[in-house]
Amino acid sequence: MTRGLFILFEGCDRSGKTTQSTRLVQALDDSGIKAKLLKFPDRTTAIGKMIDGYLTQKSKLSDEAIHLLFSANRWEAMNQMRADLESGITLVVDRYAFSGVAFSAAKKLDFKWCKAPDVGLLAPDRVFFMDIHPDDAAKRDGYGEEIYEKREFQIEVRVKFFSMMDSSWSVVDANKDADEIHRQIMVLTKRAFKKQEEDQSSISSL
Ligand code: TMP
Repeated sequence: MTRGLFILFEGCDRSGKTTQSTRLVQALDDSGIKAKLLKFPDRTTAIGKMIDGYLTQKSKLSDEAIHLLFSANRWEAMNQMRADLESGITLVVDRYAFSGVAFSAAKKLDFKWCKAPDVGLLAPDRVFFMDIHPDDAAKRDGYGEEIYEKREFQIEVRVKFFSMMDSSWSVVDANKDADEIHRQIMVLTKRAFKKQEEDQSSISSL
């Protein structure tokens, strides 16, 4: 049984991650590849509901406490994610641990401390960074509704993302037309499947 791939979309707020991750899952399904869409934070769980309360500014939490809740929200999904990947399902994930570190480090929490609770989580095979300048993101519908959607903060978050990139990341110009972005992502995804076919690598950890 060939394992599924773990494909991750990261980026600043309103960069088009949700649109593109949804389209990718649809396209994989259409081509006969079993794929599942996951989104972090998963606001449906008990922990996710606490996170939602914080993001929508209904409740207050310290920077450290919300950081740990975001991480716990990933940990509670880990067993199912591993089982899915092992059973051949490709996971397309909308935000993950890199968002966790980028957003908390942008609040000036210690970078090493921010990374610590996510150590041991499953690592993605490919990361697509949807790159948009916060000034352009601010023009998109609904911007400003949640706690982090502020220009200066998003600029800082973007810098933190760039500091974490390695060769498994691709920077995608999120200002382009959605169809063009989708085509680019399909090319990169096919390449990732080909690489996995050749390497047969096992799932690694953060
Ligand atoms: P969303 O808009 O993709 O649902 O994400 C909600 C917000 O939460 C977004 O501003 C990014 C932020 N976030 C963190 O601060 N830490 C995390 O670990 C994750 C996954 C998201």
